[in-house]
Amino acid sequence: MHTHIKDISAYVSKEVTLKGWLHNKRSSGKIAFLEIRDGSGFLQIIVNKSDVDEATWGTVEALTQESSFSVIGEVSSHPKKEGVFELQARTVHAIHIATEYPIGNKDHGPDFLMNHRHLWVRSKKQWATLRIRDVIETAIHDYLHSEAFVRTDSPIFTPSACEDTTELFPVPYFDLGEAYLSQSGQLYLEAVIAGLGRCYDFGPVFRAEKSVTRRHLTEFWMMDAEAAFVEHDENMDTQEGLVKAIVKMCLERCQVEFSILERDTSALQGLLEKPFERLMYKDAITRLQSLGSDIKFGEDLGNDDEGLLTKESPVPVFIHKWPKDIKPFYMKRDAEDETLVCNNDLIGIEGAGEIIGGSQREDDYDVLMARIKEDGLEIEDYAWYSELRKYGSVPHSGFGLGLERMVRWIAGSAHIRETIPFPRLVNRIRP
Ligand code: 4AD
Ligand code: MG
Repeated sequence: MHTHIKDISAYVSKEVTLKGWLHNKRSSGKIAFLEIRDGSGFLQIIVNKSDVDEATWGTVEALTQESSFSVIGEVSSHPKKEGVFELQARTVHAIHIATEYPIGNKDHGPDFLMNHRHLWVRSKKQWATLRIRDVIETAIHDYLHSEAFVRTDSPIFTPSACEDTTELFPVPYFDLGEAYLSQSGQLYLEAVIAGLGRCYDFGPVFRAEKSVTRRHLTEFWMMDAEAAFVEHDENMDTQEGLVKAIVKMCLERCQVEFSILERDTSALQGLLEKPFERLMYKDAITRLQSLGSDIKFGEDLGNDDEGLLTKESPVPVFIHKWPKDIKPFYMKRDAEDETLVCNNDLIGIEGAGEIIGGSQREDDYDVLMARIKEDGLEIEDYAWYSELRKYGSVPHSGFGLGLERMVRWIAGSAHIRETIPFPRLVNRIRP
């Protein structure tokens, strides 16, 4: 039995065994400081040459960075720092002595680090980021269950597009021709809500988008949620509740991670008590133009536009009711203006950009068929989907949250490639 560093505060003045990797070592020849990493945390081990036997001291001298080892010792409180603990070692056993580790303290370029991603995930900042990712996933599951959503899962092999047909990854599929990797499980969830009422999926999706930016992956994790009898405004309420629940749980559980990342969380703290802004697309365009953007009505918002819109904002901003011509076929037309759809993007603050896309869905069979034709899509591909409008069609809405976009914002990562263990980018498939 060994103890995990996360539980160490319960063992002050007691003897424990820890197992982990050598993260860092300093030694004066008489006293050595070993920083151990066990996955659950980091801890300083103090080894006094005069207090340990020769074998242990020999092992301490032989341990190289990333060597795996076990240590038995007594837990003590740090003499100066409250809430920080140390281990006074009695015996140290090497499990495996690592050969020279390629990642040091010096400034390696991003390409070098990405080529060594299989090792880079051991670094403190990566540890902190991946743990924040886990908390965000937990917050999503907890919040959606508290709102009566049921988790279900959508297929990855799909016969047709959900989003832009130019961004599909084709895969040869036996005698059936070509399949595509899913871009979003939304269309399938729209079927399942007639069984489950409210449901969500959470899994990898794929976009063959040649965007080389700090916010695009070719494979990313999407949470799609869908609810029957929910219309446009309530759909935004759910998104707002979800984002606040994520921020709240991260603030509660990730203080150690935030301090490792040197992430100032005051803006996150600040958004919890305030309603998010809801700005119609047309008003967003006017505002952007007054701020100096050359965007015109009918154009998609670029990265710079999203940044401009939220620069001064203490809360995320919903941009809603976009022109139907630049949005997918499934979005419901706005009853007050047939050229618009009842959709929204949610733009995070602090340069996060779009983190969620959502909409009310077209629930009228004839209107939907007309939209499918207008967009030049194969009717046959969407026959099953349209058929949902024939058997007890109901108003319904949903949204998709990009997990890595969310992690990037909350953790304050410069680049999305650090928010997933093994990122897939236009120009990178290894390791
Ligand atoms: O806005 P999108 O394309 O919406 C959909 O796919 C809908 N079918 C979702 C739904 O209503 N159920 O994608 C949703 C989110 C975006 O807001 C963004 O956070 C993320 O997915 N996203 C990406 N994240 C990383 N890399 C990319 N290439 C992304 N494309 C979209
Ligand atoms: Mg979108």
